[in-house]
Amino acid sequence: MRILTGVQPSGQLHWGNYFGAMKPIIDTQAQGETFVFVAQYHALTTVHDAAALRQATRDVALDFLACGLDPAKACLFRQADVPEVHELAWLLSVVTPMGLLERCHSYKDKLARGLPASHGLFAYPVLMAADILLYQSDEVPVGRDQKQHVEVTRDIAAKFNQTFGEVFKLPQPRIAETVAVIPGLDGQKMSKSYGNTIGLFDDPKEVKAKIMRIATDSTPLEAPKDPDACRVFALYRLFADEAETEAMRQNYLRGGYGYGHAKKALFEIYQRKMAPFRERRAALAAHPEEVEAALRAGAERARAVARQTLAAARRAVGLD
Ligand code: ADP
Ligand code: TRP
Repeated sequence: MRILTGVQPSGQLHWGNYFGAMKPIIDTQAQGETFVFVAQYHALTTVHDAAALRQATRDVALDFLACGLDPAKACLFRQADVPEVHELAWLLSVVTPMGLLERCHSYKDKLARGLPASHGLFAYPVLMAADILLYQSDEVPVGRDQKQHVEVTRDIAAKFNQTFGEVFKLPQPRIAETVAVIPGLDGQKMSKSYGNTIGLFDDPKEVKAKIMRIATDSTPLEAPKDPDACRVFALYRLFADEAETEAMRQNYLRGGYGYGHAKKALFEIYQRKMAPFRERRAALAAHPEEVEAALRAGAERARAVARQTLAAARRAVGLD
């Protein structure tokens, strides 16, 4: 079983990225073969600042390692260290129907937000398909917003196999249903594009201020409250274990427990759960050469697999 996911280095990682993408893969890194990469080429569709890209690439790698990704168990690498992905993207693009890409929500959303319609933005799902298929991935853990891209990958793989012969395995998206969409400060999906995020390693003071600003309804302190209608509860349960979640649920239902109490509890559990990660991150940041060595070793392992798949694809189309 091969599991693969990519994370774009296009800004500070937030809780949505962690619970939607990082944690599920870190939790299962010892089962089967796990590949995690920093999706620099995808980030380039929106980040046009070399220093920012470099910095964010380092940050993503640090964040993954700090949050418990073990490079001895999982293969962690930079997308740009495996150039084979571009050749495969081209081989896939010749069997990718325009209509398939035109239907992608993510592309349409980006245009609606005012991003110029570049070829890179349009072809983004083909490059993502190449990422996934290059490693013959079985499962791709992603947030719900990326599910369509994995479905597009399956369509492209099927079309390639049908046209040129069986080369690719069809991957499955893996969505952690309980945490499918992490709400942001305003209740919309937490996303850096909406400016409603809480960073994983933000300054605690800033995190606290953001939590305190979360809008809640006007139910008085004494009255019972509906935990399932409250954003603070939704965020609390991400960090909490079952018993902690249940205790918090009872606080809401019982009444006499205000949203201010819940926000304080959310900040405390965040601090407690993140403390070991923060320490590890600081330790790693002090030794960039170790992080670099882990990334290079990861790229070497990834490339060995990538070369095999690319050779099979080249043979299938008649480029051998
Ligand atoms: P953003 O929406 O902030 O731009 P990305 O698109 O870079 O985040 O997402 C990186 C990964 O994190 C993807 O797998 C994505 O599905 C996941 N993710 C991002 N935001 C959320 C969220 N609010 N809930 C669940 N998963 C998310
Ligand atoms: N498009 C993904 C995102 O924005 C990042 C990504 C690129 C990815 N290639 C991938 C995710 C391959 C999973 C598999 O989150």
